[in-house]
Amino acid sequence: MPAPTVHRLPNAPAAARAAAEHMAGRIRGDIARQGRCRLALAGGSTPRPVYERLAAPDLTRRIDWARTEIFWGDERSVPLDHPDSNYRMAEDALLKHLPVPPAGIHRIRSELPALEAAEDYERVLGDLPLDLVLLGMGDDGHTASLFPGRPEAAEGSRRVVAAEAPAPPHVRVTLTLRALAEAGAVCFIVTGRSKAARVAEVFCEIAAGSPRLPAARVRPGSGELDWFLDADAARNLPPNPEERSVP
Ligand code: 6PG
Repeated sequence: MPAPTVHRLPNAPAAARAAAEHMAGRIRGDIARQGRCRLALAGGSTPRPVYERLAAPDLTRRIDWARTEIFWGDERSVPLDHPDSNYRMAEDALLKHLPVPPAGIHRIRSELPALEAAEDYERVLGDLPLDLVLLGMGDDGHTASLFPGRPEAAEGSRRVVAAEAPAPPHVRVTLTLRALAEAGAVCFIVTGRSKAARVAEVFCEIAAGSPRLPAARVRPGSGELDWFLDADAARNLPPNPEERSVP
């Protein structure tokens, strides 16, 4: 498995721009190659500027959104209009600006009990792999809603499971490591000094071949794994000559 491609950007806005432009290229490539792109969006706060950049006319007008299907990597068990809803954030920052047909937007039905929502979403996701997944990382090394030490972060046969988070909103639904491993490509967007120690730990685990933290264990079989970091989040990483750093 090749090492992740690390994109080290000077600041968070630059990292968000780089991630959005990378995603736009991959979405266009998937559509050109296979006639569609199944894209899974990340939750949390970091992705918002990525979505705002992706929604900008110079990028979005070059994407055939009618051939793009939108999924989520995870969702909190809160109403759609709740400030913690990942769907709400993506709708506000990205989807309301795009001509994606409503049938192409597959939200996790967070109004259902989590176990039922997970089973429903696994049916919606089906057996086809996702083509591109955007992920964030918490300062504990979680990604999506796969938290360290939690059973749902273990290897398994499911693609979608109910999960429990140590911080509220506690009840979640999340893609599993299996669904992420099947993806055509995965992009992480991680910024801020609070994540620097964990980013370094993740890359140490990857380099040692002993990934333990959920974010370290995300390894798409395609090998297409890109990490977009700002200088603060990357500050504890050793300089890497192969790295793509933007001056
Ligand atoms: C979620 C996300 C989660 C997020 C990290 C980082 O639903 O919370 O899927 O994995 O990416 O917690 O969150 P921030 O971007 O807010 O730091």
